[in-house]
Amino acid sequence: MNKILIVGATSAIAQAVARQLAELEKDTAQFILVGRNVDRLESIGTDLSERFGCVATSVVANLDALDDIDALIQRCWDTYGGVDIALIAHGDLPDQAKCENDWAEFSRVYNVNALSYMAVMHALALRMEKVRQGTIAAIGSVAGDRGRKSNYAYGSAKGAVAIFCQGLRNRLFSKGVHVLTVKPGFVDTPMTAAFDKSGPLWATPDVVAKSIVKGIVSKKNTIYTPGFWWLIMTVITNIPEMIFKRLSL
Ligand SMILES: NC(=O)c1ccc[n+]([C@@H]2O[C@H](COP(=O)([O-])OP(=O)(O)OC[C@H]3O[C@@H](n4cnc5c(N)ncnc54)[C@H](OP(=O)(O)O)[C@@H]3O)[C@@H](O)[C@H]2O)c1
Repeated sequence: MNKILIVGATSAIAQAVARQLAELEKDTAQFILVGRNVDRLESIGTDLSERFGCVATSVVANLDALDDIDALIQRCWDTYGGVDIALIAHGDLPDQAKCENDWAEFSRVYNVNALSYMAVMHALALRMEKVRQGTIAAIGSVAGDRGRKSNYAYGSAKGAVAIFCQGLRNRLFSKGVHVLTVKPGFVDTPMTAAFDKSGPLWATPDVVAKSIVKGIVSKKNTIYTPGFWWLIMTVITNIPEMIFKRLSL
């Protein structure tokens, strides 16, 4: 497995995954890095090539443009003649209050966090099922496990991605294609720059990347990362709705 597509390659978590996959695959890895900022993509690619001897190609795209995604994936597919591993990692953590007051903002955020993920997975699925191999890893969130008033614009999009992944996994299992749903908890990245990061629940991108790489290699279905989030979310999803709706979460 060495043709690696990373959509949202400038994300801090994606960069950590790329480095760890590069270390694993060494100079057999060929990366296709998709993102909005060409300079940052080039610098990530140069780092992968200088440190690990990998090949990297940058593809500039704004994932907001849903109608362009099939052509984007075809271009990525053609770069090295297929894709073995695809990580989908872009995302936008919105201001919940703004989404509640502005439908255009809710729709923009849902578009980038849910529909663009589905469009990428849809395009990859059509190609991977034909060659009967490949891995699609999509980064969801623990926020997608239960709707809360403080972040349901983001959470409902991540929840939709998780359900989409379940269906896709069921469809593609018999075709030899692996679908991994990644559910991180709180991760110290630019996305969470405004948060207070003290406390034991925060993880680094490297820790999260390690479990993503392990999930890809061992063909897991869904992972919570760090793993203790499975326990937290089991408790949260089991609180009866008549109690949950009264909580301030
Ligand atoms: N950090 C957390 O606590 C946390 C928790 C759970 C899940 N996640 C998920 O983990 C994934 C990675 O996030 P991160 O924490 O690594 O954050 P990050 O470093 O801020 O990365 C977010 C990335 O999304 C890209 N992006 C946003 N909108 C885009 C668009 N329309 N087109 C193309 N790229 C776009 C950004 O590109 P630019 O560089 O061009 O801005 C950036 O590379 C996301 O899906 C996020 O929702 C994060």
